[in-house]
Amino acid sequence: MTDEQQQNSGNQDQTLTNRQGHPISDNQNTRTVGDRGPTVLENYNFLEKITHFDRERIPERVVHARGAGAHGYFEAYGTIGNEPASKYTRAKLFQEKGKITPVFVRFSSVIHGGHSPETLRDPRGFATKFYTEDGNWDLVGNNLKIFFIRDPIKFPDLVHAFKPDPVTNRQDVNRIFDFISHIPEAMHMITWLFSPWGIPANYRQMEGSGVNTYKMVNADGVGHIVKYFWVPKAGVKNLTLAQAEEVQAKNFNHATQDLYEAIERGDYPEWEFCVQIMSDDEHPELDFDPLDPTKIWSPEQFPLLPIGRMVLDKNPTNYFAEVEQAAFGAGVLVDGLDFSDDKLLQGRTFSYSDTQRYRVGTNYLQLPINRAKAQVATNLRDGQMAYHVDGVEAGENPHVNYEPSSMGGLKEAPKAGKDRTPYVQGPVVRQKISRTNDYKQAGERYRTFQDSERDDLILNLVTALKTCNPDIQERMVGHLMQCDAEYGTRVKEGLEQAKM
Ligand code: HEM
Repeated sequence: MTDEQQQNSGNQDQTLTNRQGHPISDNQNTRTVGDRGPTVLENYNFLEKITHFDRERIPERVVHARGAGAHGYFEAYGTIGNEPASKYTRAKLFQEKGKITPVFVRFSSVIHGGHSPETLRDPRGFATKFYTEDGNWDLVGNNLKIFFIRDPIKFPDLVHAFKPDPVTNRQDVNRIFDFISHIPEAMHMITWLFSPWGIPANYRQMEGSGVNTYKMVNADGVGHIVKYFWVPKAGVKNLTLAQAEEVQAKNFNHATQDLYEAIERGDYPEWEFCVQIMSDDEHPELDFDPLDPTKIWSPEQFPLLPIGRMVLDKNPTNYFAEVEQAAFGAGVLVDGLDFSDDKLLQGRTFSYSDTQRYRVGTNYLQLPINRAKAQVATNLRDGQMAYHVDGVEAGENPHVNYEPSSMGGLKEAPKAGKDRTPYVQGPVVRQKISRTNDYKQAGERYRTFQDSERDDLILNLVTALKTCNPDIQERMVGHLMQCDAEYGTRVKEGLEQAKM
């Protein structure tokens, strides 16, 4: 028992009750006619217990179902690189050196269900909820710095192709590469994913990245486009497939266990938080579009600027209440942080809160893990499981659930700074971005990998592709050739050898 548990148990009446507060004096026997039954229906305690049990699960997340979480804090440096943070953003959490903001982080894998092995080749989620004084900011990122697609309309297809076959209920590389071989922009992500970076060793030694381009806005309303990064203080550690299989043979919860045990023993995981910054324009000098989430901004040209650090120092007290019900949204920003025009980000902004209203419920933001620590005072009312009335704690007249009002209703907040008012003009189209440059960064990544990473990448791709249909293999080799001739040739030769 932890100290906290002992303290709780010592000071409180431990009498078992039902949810109505009725003490339960017999929790061993259902109420029956005679000791052999039948059972009777006027048996409230049994009915409450069994019907609640029947409803213990909420729908799993459609993606990122398997996860682990922890509480901690973010400490601002007050600067972005060598400059005051205020030069780029008025977001309050970054302004003063040493300013602490509580956080909750959920790490995850993407494709399989809630108890799937944590050794699978899959991107890892790295979602952070900052409980700032201006309300919540969620940075819903991944461990890899890029994504498979750049248009959100493709997301359901991408996920369907990676999820188990709807007939056999097994993940099938033939379905995965059938889809991927039609998506040239995915080659960069595939190059990362099939290298050892596709299986992080644990969550503590894993990078995080916001992937999408966001904006920072200062007090004058001037915006810059930014990308966010978590750099683990303990370094990055990945596994080859053989190493992962060894772990998986003995433990399919190793990353959850590693995070929990490290925090229990006081070995608190820590990351430095960094940003890359560009002026807010199209940057025609670059051979890629800075809003394209399939691209990296070269760190040589756009250095990672430290802005703070994060420490995770407390495990959840209940997995379901805190980790399963946690709801992060790519569109949940605070003043001083803004969206960019990145189409994928805009699709995500709609999707997360939509699924959470269904998955957790209409009032998911009233749950303690999701509720802002700042004042919440809204005129949103009712719906399933309304837990309390948002505005009343702020002194709102309970008769007034609308705005404007002269009878004691809630009032609009003063403006926090100058509005940023980007000018948007153009034909409404369904069209790809013009600077797609789908292969260049994938080729650069291949050439930048160490020899061992490159060998592992080729082995993993050949192992996956050798069971695919010949036309899928051909399309994939065609794409990889365009990334880098050696890369494509090695995969082609590997596939030819596998046929012998
Ligand atoms: C159009 C593209 C995308 C769509 C529509 C989308 C949609 C979703 C949905 C519906 C969920 C489940 C949320 C829940 O039930 O609480 C989710 C979870 C998640 N997504 Fe995405 N996603 C997209 C792209 C991305 C990208 C690019 C990243 C990485 C930056 C990402 C990172 C995550 C993470 C980390 C979670 C799990 C959050 C948690 O721990 O609860 N997603 N996504």
